[in-house]
Amino acid sequence: MTTTTQRDDLHPGAPDGRPLLEARDLVAGYLPGVDILHDCNLQLHPGELVGIIGPNGAGKSTLLKALFGLVSVRSGSVTLGEEDITNLRADNLVRRGIGFVPQTNNVFPSLTIAENLQMGVFQAPKEFEAQFDRVMGLFPELATRARQRAGSLSGGERQMVAMGRALMMNPSVLLLDEPSAGLSPVRQDETFLRTRRINKAGVSIVIVEQNARRCLQICHRAYVLDQGSNAHSGPGRELMDDPRVIELYLGTLEADVAKEEAEGRHEEP
Ligand SMILES: Nc1ncnc2c1ncn2[C@@H]1O[C@H](COP(=O)(O)OP(=O)(O)OP(=O)(O)O)[C@@H](O)[C@H]1O
Ligand SMILES: [Mg+2]
Repeated sequence: MTTTTQRDDLHPGAPDGRPLLEARDLVAGYLPGVDILHDCNLQLHPGELVGIIGPNGAGKSTLLKALFGLVSVRSGSVTLGEEDITNLRADNLVRRGIGFVPQTNNVFPSLTIAENLQMGVFQAPKEFEAQFDRVMGLFPELATRARQRAGSLSGGERQMVAMGRALMMNPSVLLLDEPSAGLSPVRQDETFLRTRRINKAGVSIVIVEQNARRCLQICHRAYVLDQGSNAHSGPGRELMDDPRVIELYLGTLEADVAKEEAEGRHEEP
């Protein structure tokens, strides 16, 4: 009973039932003796779109990498359904239905779009044709340019290729690290809409985002990380209106400008 209450406190607004993916009390880091994550918790329930937000260096990418076996977990656990997948290798996790799109260097620039997508199914090459057609259906902008090298694409197009590659194995869970980074506001919105569409098509998603406000608008729930620990969590729209989150992570530009104006600190033309 106590455990249930603790979980409710950690995951407010989470649906009942067993999570599809769960991180429990994760401690993880890169260098010996230096922990980056301190008892981090996260749940992703079937069908959910869950956000991770927080300032630069908070450990958002590290948490995604710990879920995907790319940084060693020192204590705590990661479970997929009923299975303990802590510290399993990424290729094993891909076979189990987890897709990961890293924050940077997420396409092979010298390969074409089609070849990049082929890399996504290197563990199941016979799947290529069927999956290629399915993924191109999600990204029609790429379909006519399958032979173009990924290195010649715009930032937004590269993000599509990276996401498409992760979707080639038809994953049940998709981990996205800052898919909107470096894109214009219009392209960012397209990325968020596409993410939402992929989620509605049945893929459960964890998305790390620098653009906290937009992320909270599309997510069912979100976790706010600060210095490697859970700071707040709850339904996206509730967090968006939470003064603690607004002050800490959504920026206070409007209030700061008003304050400077009031102090007469605006520059003379
Ligand atoms: N490969 C690495 N080796 C050593 N330390 C690392 C490595 N990658 C990240 N770190 C450190 O881990 C901490 C958390 O980094 P992380 O990349 O997880 O933050 P983040 O929340 O994703 O930040 P950002 O918003 O800038 O992407 C930082 O102090 C960073 O310097
Ligand atoms: Mg990051």
